[in-house]
Amino acid sequence: MTRIQYSVTDMANKHGRSREALLPILQDIYQAKHVISDEDMVNVARELDISAAHVYGTATFYSFLETQQSGKYIIRLCKTITCMMHGKNPVLQELERILKIKPGQTTPDGLFTLKETNCLGQCHKGPAMLVNDNPHTQLTPESVREIIDSYRREALSY
Ligand code: FES
Repeated sequence: MTRIQYSVTDMANKHGRSREALLPILQDIYQAKHVISDEDMVNVARELDISAAHVYGTATFYSFLETQQSGKYIIRLCKTITCMMHGKNPVLQELERILKIKPGQTTPDGLFTLKETNCLGQCHKGPAMLVNDNPHTQLTPESVREIIDSYRREALSY
């Protein structure tokens, strides 16, 4: 995910100031910062002339938008039934073991946040997870070790 400079006013100019613009603006903020702060939500509310509570409700409804500071890599492991039946639990246990965190937590080095999420639309290739925008499918405990290692190497190369 690329981080870009942003201003809420620029985003409102780009997407418009109707209620339909709310989600695209929140997505742009998230794309830019990996988090949507309280200040961002107030600014969006001001730009769109809607209540901050409405902005907050939208920002916190979607699991792909973050209102809490999170790791460089956000892992979203599908917890829905098909992935569960294809072995999601051993994959989760391995992620918890190698990252030493539980769902909802971030590693102390700030690299990984682990989350469980609803269906990612990859049911036929479950278990599935997203790491930021990248899908990983047909996961096994072995493959997630390799995937996490590859993101650790990527982080070190910057
Ligand atoms: S049930 Fe996991 S991707 Fe659909």
